[in-house]
Amino acid sequence: MFRTKSPKNKNAKIKTNMNKHQDQSNTHHVPVLLEQVLTILDPQEGDSYLDLTAGYGGHAERILERTKSPRQAVLVDRDDKAIAVLTGKFAEQGVQIIHEDFLSASRELIASERQFDVILADLGVSSPHLNSAERGFAISQTGPLDMRMDQTQKLVAADIVNSYTEAQLADIIQRYGEDPKARKIAHLIVQDRPFATTTELAYIVARAWPGHSKVHPATRTFQALRIAVNDELGLLEKSLPLWTQLLKPGGRLAVISFHSLEDRIVKQTFGELAGDRYDAELRLLTKHPVVASEQEIVFNPRARSAKLRAVAK
Ligand SMILES: C[S@@+](CC[C@H](N)C(=O)[O-])C[C@H]1O[C@@H](n2cnc3c(N)ncnc32)[C@H](O)[C@@H]1O
Repeated sequence: MFRTKSPKNKNAKIKTNMNKHQDQSNTHHVPVLLEQVLTILDPQEGDSYLDLTAGYGGHAERILERTKSPRQAVLVDRDDKAIAVLTGKFAEQGVQIIHEDFLSASRELIASERQFDVILADLGVSSPHLNSAERGFAISQTGPLDMRMDQTQKLVAADIVNSYTEAQLADIIQRYGEDPKARKIAHLIVQDRPFATTTELAYIVARAWPGHSKVHPATRTFQALRIAVNDELGLLEKSLPLWTQLLKPGGRLAVISFHSLEDRIVKQTFGELAGDRYDAELRLLTKHPVVASEQEIVFNPRARSAKLRAVAK
């Protein structure tokens, strides 16, 4: 069983255990499936480019090297730290940078009749999110139960954990974490709350899973809370059809997902819009999802669960 921190420490002042290594990794993110993204999106000189989850600009940097047209590029992210880094890296070249969730940004771009040759959405959280204890995403580092990608948003993970009903919690953990012990975990949470920190919550959730397992038993619960706090699936479902509208004729759209719930939505939407019908709006560029090589996974373990699907107009 994973022993993190005793619940007795529950009311202790929150101290994030950041160390020098975490500090350095706070702005470092290795882009996944980079070569595959370049091959599939095939950016050409002069192409316009929309990155809906630009993060720390790893993919953007390489795509812009190919398009050589920064004034035709728009980079979106909902995280203010990512926006600060993107601004420092790209604003001077004339790249447009938008601090917003990708649904709102897509609606605005459609309203202003913009279309792009190359569109990328590399979903989920970035390494700096996971490596910064104070953001509350990491199971093994003590931090507040926050988990917001956009820190201007009101709802934090602590609100869900400490105020939702047992049934609501079980539903979130079941639906977004696909954890077979969802009901038991929800019960343990409600019995022992309020919780202030990630490690206190992880400790209690681990009690639902006695014995040893390779991954921390709270992994699914943390995924579920993160998805709920950031409405990740809702935003993706509503945004995907808009992204196809934002494609120019001949344009290419690639989406990288990191868990089966996201991938299911991408697969289904692309399947509907890029079917075998003669009047299909889109053409599938990836019959099967593209995944990382063993070599990439050794170098960047976050790539293990990445799945890339792409379409062309
Ligand atoms: C995996 S990282 C992207 C990394 C980026 N491709 C790079 O190479 O640096 C995902 C980014 O998407 C952002 N993000 C996630 N969901 C979002 C949403 N709904 N709207 C806007 N940005 C979002 C996160 O804040 C994070 O910075």
